[in-house]
This record gives sequence, structure tokens and C-alpha cells, in this order.
Amino acid sequence: MKAHIYKFFIAILIMIAADSLYAAPPDTVWLSKLDVSLATTGWGQKGVNTSCMGNPIRLNGKEYRSGFGTHAPSLLYIKLSGDAMRFHAIVGVDDEEKKTAGSVIFSVFGDGELLCQTSTLVSNGVSEEINVNLVGIDTLLLAVDGTSDGISFDHADWADAYFLVRGTKPVAISRPLEPAYILTPKAPETPRINGPKVYGTRPGHDFIYRIPATGERPIKFSVKGLPKGLSLDKSTGIITGKVENAGRYETTITARNSKGENSKKFTIIAGNQIALTPPLGWNSWNCFACAIDQEKVKAATDAMINSGLADYGWSYINIDDCWMIQSDSDDPTLGGTPRDENGNMKTNKKFPDIKDLTDYVHSKGLKIGIYSGPGPRTCAGYTACYQHEEADARQFADWGFDYLKYDWCDYERIAKDHSLPELKKPYIVMNEALEKTGRDIVYSLCQYGMGDVWRWGAEVGGNCWRTTGDITDNWASVESIGFGQAGLEYFSGPGHWNDPDMLVVGKVGWGPALHPTNLSPNEQYTHISLWALLASPLLIGCDMTQLDDFTLNLLTNNEVLDINQDPLGMQAGRIFKEEGIEIWARNLEDGSKAVGLFNRGMRQATVVLQRSILNIVGDYTIRDVWKQEDIGPLGESYSAMVPSHGVKLLRIYK
Ligand code: GAL
Repeated sequence: MKAHIYKFFIAILIMIAADSLYAAPPDTVWLSKLDVSLATTGWGQKGVNTSCMGNPIRLNGKEYRSGFGTHAPSLLYIKLSGDAMRFHAIVGVDDEEKKTAGSVIFSVFGDGELLCQTSTLVSNGVSEEINVNLVGIDTLLLAVDGTSDGISFDHADWADAYFLVRGTKPVAISRPLEPAYILTPKAPETPRINGPKVYGTRPGHDFIYRIPATGERPIKFSVKGLPKGLSLDKSTGIITGKVENAGRYETTITARNSKGENSKKFTIIAGNQIALTPPLGWNSWNCFACAIDQEKVKAATDAMINSGLADYGWSYINIDDCWMIQSDSDDPTLGGTPRDENGNMKTNKKFPDIKDLTDYVHSKGLKIGIYSGPGPRTCAGYTACYQHEEADARQFADWGFDYLKYDWCDYERIAKDHSLPELKKPYIVMNEALEKTGRDIVYSLCQYGMGDVWRWGAEVGGNCWRTTGDITDNWASVESIGFGQAGLEYFSGPGHWNDPDMLVVGKVGWGPALHPTNLSPNEQYTHISLWALLASPLLIGCDMTQLDDFTLNLLTNNEVLDINQDPLGMQAGRIFKEEGIEIWARNLEDGSKAVGLFNRGMRQATVVLQRSILNIVGDYTIRDVWKQEDIGPLGESYSAMVPSHGVKLLRIYK
């Protein structure tokens, strides 16, 4: 009996000890004790207990002794090994940027899933507290993204940031990246005519089209059924002139070289609509931002031809912000005041001869774009069109521009509010001015999606309109913008496209210093596949003179581009979504379907495509679009292993 009592008390003691062990306070591990130098950031220092400028961390007037000061876009990966319990931080834009316009979003991802996200936090605004459960999570990602206004002044602090841990301590790790891999075979030596099947112009307006064709040069071109007013240069394949009469012209293009020949039907529609397929080209912003000049634009033009990209249909060379003179400048070294005595925009030291530049681009059979906005100034503070709309539109047309990106930005000071009439007004004014020029100018609205621009962008004359804020070269940005397009497919079609912003593959940088995109190879395949499915304008955002083989491979798959350029112009919609897996699909003109199997999770996953969600009956073949090879017949379902953040892009055809 005594022995029993003794055992009983021992058992009680063990239970109490176990309980107190269980309840032992977890260890606190400060984020700033981790190797935060492994983070990727947009600018400045990776501040250990300081801001990205090396100052003490201050949010909302309060100073914090501990934290990680960074700058958007910022990514920090941390291995937790499943032993962390919570992560805590106070986050916001550092007070050192109180007088400026920083604005950021903080996100915390656990094994690829979003655990929490702040609202948009701004300079001089409030900070937010993050307190997330980490139980069972292996890899954590702390991300800070800039918002619609780009990344300027986005000094972001993870203040008072710590983990509560039992067991293995968290360790900062480099971004886990798979090696780059090329999927697409090289184009054959025999001629292959690429590019759209349909092309819009207005009768009597200047027409310029360089037939995009791969294959060994020299190639001899011929076109049957060319409308009156157009002529072809047989050796360059450049068609120029003005279509005399409205109508639909079914032409046949033939390309011949020493290895063989290829013909393709090409419909020219001379009516009142241009951009019948999404524009394909290059834009200066994501690489050079304000470090742009005339020579760089010429170099991009040459690279477009020499890299072979133009042979796939890439045709616009677009200058973004900062080409003009600062609105308050009278600096003679730059070119003096921005406008002459008649109020016309002047050329300047960076762009000394704009007409010469546009002529140069046109001589290659390419088209050229310009940037401005409805406010007195552009986003970067350069002279814009306010109260000079008609003169500026005329000037753009006289210079020979074929594309205008018109950026709201500083019009914020003019608009009374964000009511629909106020949002539409400046775009209507410029559209009327453009119409008077008698030139085919693609009109690209940029106002980040305000007032659901997709509902009225076409009505105010837009050929495309940005649906979101600015993209940056990180997964959080590309993922949220790209997959955030779900539901917008109803508002896009030939001549009027949703624009989820420019491409961030290759060497980008928003200034003089460039870096390889922070997207992993799989993320880049996802980016291009999704944008192709979305029928988005595709504007390459990298330095065209530094294209590597992987980036070129991404941009020169004619079957991927055919999806983007399909004449039906039906933007893909999301047809399936479950735990990080998404399937997007669109109908194509020939009765086939383009389907993207996406994996947004952090681990590779098997994605199952059920025939039933495609609404098709009969015999269909599945084609791997990136590899350009058939996989086999479609049964009741098709499964593919899709890497983390990767894609399998399919064409399912009869
Ligand atoms: C932003 C726009 C960017 C770029 C920039 C130039 O408003 O969204 O794409 O054009 O202005 O300052």
C-alpha cells in the first residue's frame, strides 16, 4: 500500500514537471540577430537595428532599439524548420521619409502561403502590428512591396521584430533558386512567319509593319492581296504607305530563303480600330527609369533587330518618363525651359533630335512610343500636358510617335475627386486631341486601375489601361498583380486590353544600376505564360543590349506569343483554384484552348486538369507550349508535376 502511495506521488511529480517544462517560456530570437545581409532589397543599406539609411528606426514618432530597416522591394527568407511559434513586428515607413511619398505593403509568407499582409502604409501614416502563428512552418518569407507609385522613398522597417521559438533557432537563408533552364527549341532555318494574324489601321493614316519572320537570312518576301496604298520592301519585309479605302483585306504573306518557304494568311482591317492584338515591344522604365536618353533608345532599337526579337513580332520601342525637361527647369545645360515661346515642348540635351530618333526606329520597320500625363508634371516631375493637350498631341504626331502612355500621377492635384467624371475627363481630352492628329497612336491609359478603369477605358478611347500599380521584379509583386486579374477578362478584347504592367525579366533596375531580375526561372516562366494568357500588352522592361539566352528563350517562343496575339482576343480567366494551385484558360480562334497550370505554393505539386472543367467533348491533343511538343491525347484528366511558383502551359487542340 505504501509503495502504491509512493508511486502515485512520483507520478504526480512527473506530471507537474512535464507541465512546467511544456509551459517553459519560448526563446525570443530577434530578427536583427539573423544575417539580414541575405535579404534582397531595392535600395540603401540592410539596416541591422537601423533604417535603410543607417538612422535609428523610428515609426510614428517612436524610436525602436531593435529591427531590420530595408527598402522595397525587399525579400528575406528564413528557415524555421517548424520550430518557431510566432513572429511579431511593428511595421511601417520610417519617419526619416516623413515629408515624402513612401508607400509600402508588408507581407509574411509561410511555405509559400500568405500568412498576413498589411494595408498600404505610407510616410507620415500609421504603423501596423504583425503577430502571426508560425507553428509547423518550414520556410518564412518577409516581403515588402512598393505600391502603385513605384519604390521611391519606400524606407520600410520591421521594428521590434522577433520570433518566439522552441527548439531550432531561425536562420536567414539566401533565396532558394532553381538553375535557369531553357525549354524552347531553336527556330528552324527554313522561313517561319510569326506575329499576329490580324492587324488594324485607319484608312489614310501612316502604316508601318515589318513582317516578323525567323529563318536564315536573306529572306525574300511577297504579299498577295495588299490593299491599295501599301507597298512592300521585298528584302526587308517592311510594308509601308497608307491604306486608301476602309475594308477588310485578306492577304497572304510568303517568305522564301535558300532552305524553303512559308506562307501565312494576314488580315489587314482598315477601319476605326487599331491594336487588334496586344502591343508587343519594349519600354524604358523598368530598366533605366530617369537614366534614359536618345542613345539608349537607339541601342534598344538595334537590339530589337539584332537579337531577333523583331522576327517574333516585338515592334514598339517605347520611351517612358523623364525624356523631357524638368517642369521648373531653366537650366541651359539641359536645354533651358521645357517649352518654347509658343508653348511647344522642346527637345533637350538628353533627346537632342527626336524626329531623327523616330525616323531611325521607323527605318527598321519598328514603331515608337512616348510618355506623358494629364497633370502639369509627370510622376518623376517632368513637364507634362496639362493645358497643352492639343499642341502636345500634335507635336507627338509630328515627331512620328505611334504610342502614347498617359500617366495620371500629378493630375491628382488637378482632379476635384475620384468620381467617374473626374477620372475620365483628362483621358477624354487627350483622346480628342489624338484623334485630331490623323495618326494611328496606341493610347495607353495609366492610372493604376482607379474607378475600375476596365469598365470605361475603351469608352474614353483607350487601347489599353493599367489595371494595377507598378510592378517590381519580385514574386510578391508579379504574383499579386498577375493572379489578381481574375474577373477582368470580361472587359478586354481586340482594340482594348487590360494591362497588368510591363515585364520584369532580364536585367532591370529603374535607374543607372541594373541587376538581373529577382524572379526565379520558374517565376519568369509563370510571368510570361500568365501575361500571354491574359492577352496583356507585352512590354519588355529590361536592358535590350544585355539579353541573355534564358531571357531570349522566354521572349521568342512563337507558340506562347501566338496565344497572346490570338485574334479572338479573349483574355484567360481562372477556372480552378485550390490551395495555391490555379488553372487559367482561354479560348483560341481555331477552337483550341490555352491552359496554364500554375503552382503558387512553395513546394512542387501535382496539378490535375479535369477535362470536365474545360467543357470540351471529343478527341483533343495536349501540347506542351514551352517545349513545343505534343504530350498525347486528352483523356478524362491530365496530371503534371509543376514546380513551386512554376507553370505548365498547354494548348489543347483538335
Ligand atoms: C508610374 C507608372 C510607371 C512609370 C512611372 C514613371 O506612375 O505607373 O509605369 O511610367 O510612373 O514615372
